[in-house]
Amino acid sequence: MSCFSSADESAHYGFSVCMLLEQYRGPLKWDEQGVVELGTGDATAIADVVSSLPELRIRSYDISAPSVAQARENIAARGVADRYTVELGDFFDQADAAGGAPVSTVISNPPYIPAPDRDILMPELWGGVRGNDLVLQLLKCGYDNVIAAVASYSDPETTVRTAEDHGYRVANFLAVGLDFGPYSNEPKVRDHIRRLCAAGHGWADEDGYMVAVALFTRTPDIPGNRADQLLRALQL
Ligand SMILES: C[S@@+](CC[C@H](N)C(=O)[O-])C[C@H]1O[C@@H](n2cnc3c(N)ncnc32)[C@H](O)[C@@H]1O
Repeated sequence: MSCFSSADESAHYGFSVCMLLEQYRGPLKWDEQGVVELGTGDATAIADVVSSLPELRIRSYDISAPSVAQARENIAARGVADRYTVELGDFFDQADAAGGAPVSTVISNPPYIPAPDRDILMPELWGGVRGNDLVLQLLKCGYDNVIAAVASYSDPETTVRTAEDHGYRVANFLAVGLDFGPYSNEPKVRDHIRRLCAAGHGWADEDGYMVAVALFTRTPDIPGNRADQLLRALQL
């Protein structure tokens, strides 16, 4: 097992989380409640966000032991270990059982690699056959606010419509174009992505794809729904 490594993707995730938390600070109430995170990775991008937002506290979970070890080192090196904690384990087993005050916001750059099975370069990044299993599971967990990365090749239309079925609107998002990296470039994965896109379940071109970090919300104080703009930004 190794630690997830994709500098551009992590930087975009961190920057977007920071911007969305800042922009919606009042209604999200994260400075009172803190937030939880599915999938810490090496923690560098979000540790920088915690460092720049002194009221932010994050409880994060990762199923990869090397990632948790690396994350703890990086968090300590940035001096934010008192406000950014990491536990080894499945987010869905642990976050609810952690006790304490209720948290209404979850953040995640979830595993979204689509493949026929889990036998891929980093199995922890498998997002199911269409790539969106974990984000769909997250949208069914009952959080009022879900800030999550959505990839253009991982059936984003189903993700957005499922979110709407569960009462969420897309408040805002930040989208970026990414080159295929080592995980999506693995031949088995790349062929599968081609088949998914040809069948109308996503978008990618020869070189890359789009990722958006979106705020799905059911908080009444946050108005509007940019779901269709999000899908257009993902080239759907
Ligand atoms: C795409 S990486 C993102 C890492 C980091 N947030 C970043 O953007 O650099 C997804 C991470 O989720 C972790 N993961 C996968 N399934 C998980 C689960 N059920 N609970 C917690 N973490 C999980 C993986 O081990 C991986 O480190």
